[in-house]
Amino acid sequence: MNSTLQLIQERRSTRRYDPTPLTPAEKDAILCAAMRAPTAGAQMLYSIIEIEDQKLKDKLVDTCDHQPFIATAPYLLLFLADYQRWMDLFDAAGCESRAVELGIQPRRPGEGDMLLAMMDALIAAQTAVIAAESLGIGSCYIGDIIENWELHQEMFALPRYTIPAALLCFGRPAEPPQGKQVSRFDRKFIVHQDTYRRFTTEELNEMFLPFGGYSFDVHDFANGGKNVIQRTYIRKFSAEFSVEMNRSVRSMLKNWQE
Ligand SMILES: Cc1cc2nc3c(=O)[nH]c(=O)nc-3n(C[C@H](O)[C@H](O)[C@H](O)COP(=O)(O)O)c2cc1C
Repeated sequence: MNSTLQLIQERRSTRRYDPTPLTPAEKDAILCAAMRAPTAGAQMLYSIIEIEDQKLKDKLVDTCDHQPFIATAPYLLLFLADYQRWMDLFDAAGCESRAVELGIQPRRPGEGDMLLAMMDALIAAQTAVIAAESLGIGSCYIGDIIENWELHQEMFALPRYTIPAALLCFGRPAEPPQGKQVSRFDRKFIVHQDTYRRFTTEELNEMFLPFGGYSFDVHDFANGGKNVIQRTYIRKFSAEFSVEMNRSVRSMLKNWQE
């Protein structure tokens, strides 16, 4: 296995950080790598906000589902799907009035444009993760950044055609990796040949084996679930954070579309 593949295989999310700040050279390397990521039409439909202000980090702990480790990460990057910069450029260049003269219907960014910008932002984010890892700097995504849209919009002065794609915490690991890496489902449940195939109940049960036993075995979990899958449903799918996440994203989309 070459060193790049080894790095990818050995990566794990880091949530306990050495407080030493990242050096300017390390930040520069991470940002340069992110900006070399593939980008749709070479448009770079994303922006990156560096977050080092402790007050902002502390606030993110609360707005991102109360995760205290966020405040301890020396360096945070907020990746935004960003069509605002291009719309400002289009407006500055008089694109809409020229389109009208040419008989072309002018338009604002739609849902497809938004998803394309989201792809761009996430590809840049993951490139930053790998670059950091190569420098011995760990990272952790914070998906909860898509909750509390209105608060995040205000905290980071986000204009209309920008939306959070990912928040990343970076820092040198405070300790060597503990325990085993988090398991993945077997490849046969993830990689399909030519067409998608849905799985039988038996197969789904087998898929869950690496995660601690048969999924449908009856067991009383503290959150009320009667098997491990019910426990996951209650903990993840119907939890307060997930209700808020869906509310927040509806509000985000409305803001973009109106
Ligand atoms: C989109 C996304 C959102 C995530 N959000 C969080 C989060 O809010 N808090 C957290 O501690 N980890 C978060 N993670 C990290 C995952 O929990 C982690 O990647 C997963 O458990 C697998 O572990 P590994 O990265 O060590 O392999 C997120 C990861 C992704 C890709």
